[in-house]
Amino acid sequence: APIEVADNPKVTSRPILRPQIKGLMAEFLLNNDQLREYERRLIIDLRKGLNKQTHNSSIVKCFVTYIQDLPTGREKGTYLAVDLGGTNFRVLMVELGGPEKLHMTSMQFAVPQEKMLGTGDNLFTYLADCIAMFVEKYNLKNPNIVYSMGFTFSFPLSQKSLNKALIERWTKGFNCSDVVGQDVGMLLQKAIQRRGMKNIEIKVVINDTTGTLISAAWKNPACRIGLIIGTGTNACYVEKQKCAQLFDHKNRGSGEILINTEWGAFGDDGSLDFIRTRYDLELDAQTINPGRQVHEKMISGMYMGEIVRVLLVHAVKNGALFGGKGSHALFTRNMFLTKYVSQIEAQAAGNHAKCMQIFGELGLPHISEEDCLNVRYICQCVSSRAAYMVSAGICGLIRKMGEKNVAVGIDGSVYTYHPHVHRLMMEKIQELIMPGVQFQLMLSTDGSGRGAALAAAVAAKYEN
Ligand code: GLC
Repeated sequence: APIEVADNPKVTSRPILRPQIKGLMAEFLLNNDQLREYERRLIIDLRKGLNKQTHNSSIVKCFVTYIQDLPTGREKGTYLAVDLGGTNFRVLMVELGGPEKLHMTSMQFAVPQEKMLGTGDNLFTYLADCIAMFVEKYNLKNPNIVYSMGFTFSFPLSQKSLNKALIERWTKGFNCSDVVGQDVGMLLQKAIQRRGMKNIEIKVVINDTTGTLISAAWKNPACRIGLIIGTGTNACYVEKQKCAQLFDHKNRGSGEILINTEWGAFGDDGSLDFIRTRYDLELDAQTINPGRQVHEKMISGMYMGEIVRVLLVHAVKNGALFGGKGSHALFTRNMFLTKYVSQIEAQAAGNHAKCMQIFGELGLPHISEEDCLNVRYICQCVSSRAAYMVSAGICGLIRKMGEKNVAVGIDGSVYTYHPHVHRLMMEKIQELIMPGVQFQLMLSTDGSGRGAALAAAVAAKYEN
């Protein structure tokens, strides 16, 4: 009989999760007791923000938006909207023709870093130039047609009325001079006028979370929360006017008001120190706003890749990855992009091709399969911590509202592109939520800009 010989005598051991990496990541695995404590602290801070006596000193601001009514779906007409988010500027035209009839045309522009960090004048002039291109392209220059515009401005706004909103401070990658404390609606209106566009009137200024909530509510009346997990993170929800002590306008009947929580700042007074890690502190120290937006820096897309990079560097220095060898790129800030986290976690188990390619581009062409498995674990721990914190935050808002059936409209690059964040949130909210409460998570793509147009349409009802 034939004698079989081993055709590959080299024994390869199965790749394993290394104990040092497991140890490094232990602090990132939040258990449900920690998440419940987080939720409890968030609710305390929401109350402080809503309360007149404590609002000024509160970390979580809970800004009143002056939006009292959600769209009904029956709105009609043509509205313009602009949306300044974390990285892009969008100009939109939304034609509303009644239930489920919405037609949207849009143009998107990059916001170069020199505009994010230059003078306010420079920024608003640039925004007006973008609007002028849109107006030119879609022929909106007829002086006899006046367009109402909604302005989505994704930064903390201390709102004085529907279209008067003072920027409280910059967040994310922006830090323009001479803008903080000013009315951003007016700054944009003036820039638009300077550019010769006399037939555009800004009717509402809203935050992107508010826009997301409004546009999700247009589709689904059960929507009571708008959430962004993108460059930054924040949430907006429907509150009773009697709880929103800063709301000083006349009640228009719904008895409710949208609140922009600005929960990105949660933790700025130390309330998240019980779960914050030394890696979070290390990241924070290198940002343009150290000590601020503590919560956001543990969660959102502007920081997720960088947290992973900080951890990779620690692992390399301890000899737990890549045979203890790094590269110039790996040791350089912001070189590990958040989209790599998504790409690495999207690979099927055992397939490390994408991971190898990414590290090849970062100057580490010879990493092992076991390295890749360990890198993936680091990514998973960082992204699941983010998903779980947001989940506990959503549970906090639902508990605060006391609702039994809530849909959440969600937008932002992390929620949209990360392969597991949605599923992780579904699982975790289910575990943490009070018994008997129904919830839904709805993707609301481009919701923030569309929401500004819808808000302008709802505001128009009051004028007539
Ligand atoms: C930052 C901004 C906030 C915005 C969020 C998401 O947290 O301060 O206003 O909603 O990013 O874009």
